[in-house]
Amino acid sequence: MSASYQRMIFVCLNDRGEDNPKGSCGRSGGVELLERLRADLHERGLKRVVRAVGTRCLGQCSRGPVACVQPEDVWYGGIQADDVEELIETHVLGGRPVGRLELGQRQLTGISEEDHPLPRFERGE
Ligand code: FES
Repeated sequence: MSASYQRMIFVCLNDRGEDNPKGSCGRSGGVELLERLRADLHERGLKRVVRAVGTRCLGQCSRGPVACVQPEDVWYGGIQADDVEELIETHVLGGRPVGRLELGQRQLTGISEEDHPLPRFERGE
């Protein structure tokens, strides 16, 4: 049995300051998103299986606040604290992405998944 978390949710908290034209998740709701996520996971007794972590820039600044759920590699953009209940109900407990907030592979990298140069990581037996 694995001792690792079943899900890791990375939330960008990067803060470029108030006047930076590029914007940043830390200024558009990322901090509140992580606080609500941690509180809800705690209330639901999920904090030992789902870990919510604040990060620096995840490279999707114009789409912030940004969160990434691993290991399924689902990315969310424009996700706010008010979306946390739906994220937990639909994604974490329901096993389906929240489609209205999901960022597609082409949005993330500008290239399709089929054109990615690196193979997917596969753990050996
Ligand atoms: S500041 Fe959040 S993705 Fe760049």
